[in-house]
Order: sequence, then structure tokens, then C-alpha cells
Amino acid sequence: MIVCEFRPGLEDIPAAQSSISDVDGHKGILEYRGIRIEELAENSTFLETAYLLIWGALPTADQLTSFEQEVREHRRIKYRIRDMMKCFPESGHPMDALQASAAALGLFYSRRDLHNPIYIRDAVVRLLANIPTMVAAFQLMRKGNDPVPPHDELDYSGNFLYMLNEKQPDPLAARIFDVCLILHAEHTMNASTFSARVTASTLTDPYAVVASAVGTLGGPLHGGANEEVIQMLEEIGSVKNVVPYIEDCLQRKAKIMGFGHRVYKVKDPRATILQNLAEQLFAKFGHDKYYDIAQEIERVVEEKLGGKGIYPNVDFYSGLVYRKLGIPTDLFTPVFAIARVAGWLAHWKEQLAENRIFRPTQVYNGHHNLPYKPIEQR
Ligand code: CMC
Repeated sequence: MIVCEFRPGLEDIPAAQSSISDVDGHKGILEYRGIRIEELAENSTFLETAYLLIWGALPTADQLTSFEQEVREHRRIKYRIRDMMKCFPESGHPMDALQASAAALGLFYSRRDLHNPIYIRDAVVRLLANIPTMVAAFQLMRKGNDPVPPHDELDYSGNFLYMLNEKQPDPLAARIFDVCLILHAEHTMNASTFSARVTASTLTDPYAVVASAVGTLGGPLHGGANEEVIQMLEEIGSVKNVVPYIEDCLQRKAKIMGFGHRVYKVKDPRATILQNLAEQLFAKFGHDKYYDIAQEIERVVEEKLGGKGIYPNVDFYSGLVYRKLGIPTDLFTPVFAIARVAGWLAHWKEQLAENRIFRPTQVYNGHHNLPYKPIEQR
């Protein structure tokens, strides 16, 4: 029996009850566990925010210190995973490498002790600690180099930039990267989180949960849009080409990457923060001409599509920040995944707490009672 009308993309259909985050798409408000994203971006760190999302409250100083220490101690990846990654084709997309590597972690921890808080804590720590090392390791190995081992003196974000760029990061760059991770850590029932919850509902292991979410995040309508924004800026090339480019997109009914959102009908608050971070980086490390193009795109799209509620989303300015931090374009989405692991794990825990396997229904619109036609008659 169908109890509600079919809504393509499950628009406006609640898939879970959740207390992890909330979006007011008309006012442009995003909260994690009731705290505004602007406050977290200003005052928190990524690991503190991850703790908040996963355990439901900000940690005390002692709780945070031991959580940070546990994550620090688990940053190294198993040599078998590293050796497996060495066999990946260097032309492969880093999101595919990450998905395979996250799934491979499950080979080492296949015991599913989902009612044991120690198992849950270990899995959370291991995934948060290992995912950045995997992303950096694949980047170095596809260039033919050995991966750089984690640096125990550096914090979470500083260590990632160190493993990626093979040098101590500038403190402002490391802080800005950390804020980017906070901004991307969680966002209600987006496609990859839904995917994580569906996988979690089967009571499989958390490595499979994260691997399925990584696979979902990679598409250009979701996390993959940040890469496509940079490709669009490169294609446009200069401010004077913006108007004809956008007009051409609109005429072809092509989507403008980094714009639009199922929930936000105003500018995404994370886009505003990212724009500010980009400006801080340009002030210290030099301007990027693509920023001028991006601002012009925002002006033109707002003029033409603002009435339809289409404004910049989180992916529009993030790529400009990552470029300035020395992150290659095809690592933008894996970097998004590093952050979103926190949200996926929070949803994994929440799903387990009141689990019922996802098993929606469908509206069948095919035939019935057709005869089987022998192959020679087809
Ligand atoms: N450029 C031009 N028109 C757009 C855009 C856009 N970026 N986004 C939506 N529209 C139009 C769309 O053509 C449609 O118009 P009409 O009603 O006249 O046919 C209307 O707005 C509704 O669009 P939709 O595709 O039905 O909306 P949706 O809620 O199914 O999709 C979206 C949301 C984010 C997939 C879509 O806005 C999009 O494809 N944006 C570009 C890709 C992008 O930036 N993705 C990142 C999303 S945010 C972060 C994340 O999830 O990772």
C-alpha cells in the first residue's frame, strides 16, 4: 500500500528523525547540535566539532585532549593498505582510491560489535585518523613518491597539509583549512548521509558505511561540484566572458556549478564564510584572478536566477580556498570527504541507536503477465 505520493528525489520526505544538524533554507541558517555554523567556524576546531557531532555535546577540556590524542595515535595507515594503494592506477580519481581504501579498512576490523561503546569509539577514531592519511598517501604515490608519515607535533589539519605538501604549513593556512573542515563536516539528510544511513541500517560495519558514503559524495551534483566550479572558472578565463557564458548555460538549460540547493533558497551561509576565508588567503598569499570571475558569476546569476532562489552553495568558493592552500583540483572532493566523515559517523551512531532497516517502496509502472518469448522469436 502506498501511503504518500511519489516525490522524485524524495523531496520533502523525512528519511529519519535526527538531532545532529538543522538547516533553515529560507533564512540561511545552519546549526550543528543547535550551535550556529558561524560560531563554530569562529571558535571551534574540526576535531572538537567532530566530537560535538558524534557524541552530541561539546567536550570538556579533558575529553577533547584525550580524543585528540587518540586520533593522533591512529594516523598511520597499515602497510598493506598503503601497498594496495600503490597498485591503483595513477590516472584513477582520488575519490575512487579513497572509497576502495576506506572499504579495505573493514578487512582488518571485520568483527562487528555494534553494541560495544569501545568498538564504536575505536571505529570513529580510526576513520577520522586514517582518511586524511589515505588521501595524502594516494596523492604522493600517484606522483611516484613514497607517502610522508604523519607528523606527531602537528594538529589534525596542519598534519594533513604537511603530508600533502611535504612541508610545514603556514599557521594561517592550517587554521583556514581547519575551518573548511568544520564547514563541511555535516549537513542534514544530503545524498551521501542518506547513503550512509541506509548502509548503517543493515548493521554492516562502519567502514562499509563510510565507503558507500564516499561513493555517493563523488558525483557532480553533490561533492564533486567543487571540482567542476574550478573547471568552469578556467573555461570562462576572464571577467568579460562571464555574461555570455552564463547566458549560454541558461539557454542550453545547463546547470551552473556551485549554485542552487534543494534546501537553501538564499546564499548558503558556508559560502559566505568560505568567501571570507578566500579573501584572508589572498591578502596574505596573493590574489587569484579566478576570484574576480567568481564574484562576477555570483552577480550575474543572482540577477538572472535569484528570483528562483538560486544562489551560491558551499561548493562555489571552497575550490578557490583549496587552490590557494596548494590542494590539487581532483583532491577537492576527497578533502570534502575528510570533513564529512564526522557527519557520517554521527549519523551511523544515531541510526544504530534506533535502527530499522531502510526498505522503502516503489511505484511499479511496468507490465504484468507477459508471456516468456523464446530467444529465437525475439
Ligand atoms: N544552475 C541553473 N539552474 C539551476 C541550478 C543551477 N546550478 N540549480 C537549479 N536550477 C534550476 C533548475 O534548472 C530548475 O529550474 P526549472 O524549475 O525551471 O526546471 C530549478 O532550478 C530546480 O532545480 P532542480 O535541479 O530540480 O533542483 P534540485 O533540488 O533537484 O537540485 C542541485 C539541487 C544542487 C542538485 C542543483 O541545484 C544543481 O544541480 N546545482 C549544480 C550542482 C551543484 O552545485 N551541486 C552542489 C550542491 S551543494 C553541496 C553538495 O551537496 O555537495
